[in-house]
Amino acid sequence: MLASVTLVFTILPMSAQEQVITVNAKKVGAPIQSTMYGIFFEDINYAADGGLYGELIKNRSFEFPNPYTGWDISGQVSLKDDGPFERNPHYVRLAPSGHRDKHTMIENHGFFGIGVKGGEEYRFSVWARVPDGGNAKIWIDLVDNATMEEDQKLGNVGVDISGKEWKKYTAVIKPKKTFAKAHLRVWGDGKVTTDLEHVSLFPVKTYKGHENGMRLDVAQALEDLHPGVFRFPGGCIVEGTDLATRYQWKNTVGPVENRPLNENRWHYTFTHRYFPDYFQSYGLGFFEYFQLSEEIGAEPLPVLNVGMACQYQNGDDAHAPCTKEGLQQFIDDCIDLIDFANGDPATNKWAKLRADMGHPAPFNLKFLGIGNEQWEAPFFDRLAIIAPEVRKAHPEIKIIGTSGPNAEDDHFFNGWKAMRELKADLVDEHFYRDIKWYKNSMNRYSDRKFYTKDGPRVFAGEWACHDRGKKYNHAGASIYEAAFMTNIERNADLVHMATYAPLFSHVEGWQWRPDLIWYDNLFTSRTASYYVQQLYMLNKGTNVLPTTISIDGAKGVSNPVPEGEDGLFASAVIDLQKDEIIVKAINTKTESQYALINITGLSKKQLASLVKAEVTTLDCSDYEAENMPGKSELVCPAHSEIAISSGTIKAIIPAKTFALYKIKI
Ligand code: AHR
Repeated sequence: MLASVTLVFTILPMSAQEQVITVNAKKVGAPIQSTMYGIFFEDINYAADGGLYGELIKNRSFEFPNPYTGWDISGQVSLKDDGPFERNPHYVRLAPSGHRDKHTMIENHGFFGIGVKGGEEYRFSVWARVPDGGNAKIWIDLVDNATMEEDQKLGNVGVDISGKEWKKYTAVIKPKKTFAKAHLRVWGDGKVTTDLEHVSLFPVKTYKGHENGMRLDVAQALEDLHPGVFRFPGGCIVEGTDLATRYQWKNTVGPVENRPLNENRWHYTFTHRYFPDYFQSYGLGFFEYFQLSEEIGAEPLPVLNVGMACQYQNGDDAHAPCTKEGLQQFIDDCIDLIDFANGDPATNKWAKLRADMGHPAPFNLKFLGIGNEQWEAPFFDRLAIIAPEVRKAHPEIKIIGTSGPNAEDDHFFNGWKAMRELKADLVDEHFYRDIKWYKNSMNRYSDRKFYTKDGPRVFAGEWACHDRGKKYNHAGASIYEAAFMTNIERNADLVHMATYAPLFSHVEGWQWRPDLIWYDNLFTSRTASYYVQQLYMLNKGTNVLPTTISIDGAKGVSNPVPEGEDGLFASAVIDLQKDEIIVKAINTKTESQYALINITGLSKKQLASLVKAEVTTLDCSDYEAENMPGKSELVCPAHSEIAISSGTIKAIIPAKTFALYKIKI
């Protein structure tokens, strides 16, 4: 939603305390990395199955521990386990019931129902056979079980099955109306036994039209964000509650029908948010991830297991033996993944698999995280074995280590020390913290005694301002994220990546909040935090410009606000390709602040040519305000213009507002 564009001339009251933001356009500073602002994906909150991944059928291969999870069955349905897909051997047999009016049927509930849009096309597919030979017919109905109408069907199509051989059948269904909670019913003609495997339903319109594709509105929200880097697949899911259930990328590639099911730790981790039907189909696997990264223009950043199960959930002996032999599988996983992404299909089997899956060209992988949120010797010792092997095979890849789950404890400091010794290229830091922590951390990356010039660069890999017990993503927390990011930006020589986390959440299936993007079965919402990220991503410029703030003539410092207080925070960048200066100013106070934004370091002629700036504001003054799927947006950017005179903008920055000024030079 765009506000009307107006040219604002501000008159400052004589009594107002004035802040002066000075931007030196002559001192072009550190380059802003293309990866600077990015996204963190983990299959938490139904982020993959039931979220980004377009599949609408839950337990499509009958491989859940309870094989009928997600399904209702009636009549003569039986489970078989000698199906055509080795790693997903189960399928169902629909046999005649023996009576004309007893129908053999199976009905899938989807993920909290199946969201369908009236008039849109949905591609049904199934692997099927007639075990006794001959022909059979199955009927596929999309139904609304709760309707008061005569017929529950929203749409219906018949599929003819023939022969004893397993074959893939497809058909398109067009529901007559929009419904968030449809079911998919499959039933036979009651005369011939029919076997069914991998029952699937996708919208025909997926992101970029891929058959095994992503839900369009959800993926579009990613494209619109313009992330520079895309971390995947987590998060704790990389580690697993035990090593057997860790995320194993090799299980996520190749034909979808043969990707084995994995448990999802978020189904049982929290007893107060329990989702026993939450599994990983791996339909959104590493090929789809690399492809999506490419399509949304983000550098892929996979994170792989370092030979350790989740340290929160296990003692030290739950891990792989800390020897080269014990870790060989994990070393191979790293090297083979790089080959899968970048290798030559003519000489490498993983690269050949990538080509067979439809992408002969390399994905240009540049980064690899090894270990998610690990700490102390069990981690350091394993990384010390794995990292040199990966480097030997692929010296071109930048390796990312981690400093553990906290951003200020002993594990953190020991982690950084170890990562320096192991010469990690970047170190992953995590800080899910409250407003107080953010107020006290606005100068975090200016501390150059700790963050030394010669050490690894920073990857702020999981972070968000939390206000537990409050809203999903209320504006009151987002303004501190915007203020904190001025600190990231001013220190772009040190911080090379920052990814807000987590990325997605289904309103009926969340385990963790806040999250950047929320959805239900039909709608997506972009949170206030999303817009904060987007404003930085769209306006990251190419280089930092030194920016100081002074109050009423006091000498400028980069951040004059004493720790723990609200105030004004600013950073500035120049875009040398677009000839633009972009100033970001964030007022976290509950009243407006007056700011003179002075652009210095330009010639008189250049200064005289500056007459106006484009202004974008994000008003976070309604502390509780949140954007939710299907409801009108309460927090979103508004656009206007403001006059510049002799390189100075006289701005009033309203309470709790992120203001961004773009100046063409
Ligand atoms: O983002 C949710 C979880 O937070 C991640 O899985 C983990 O890395 C962190 O503890």
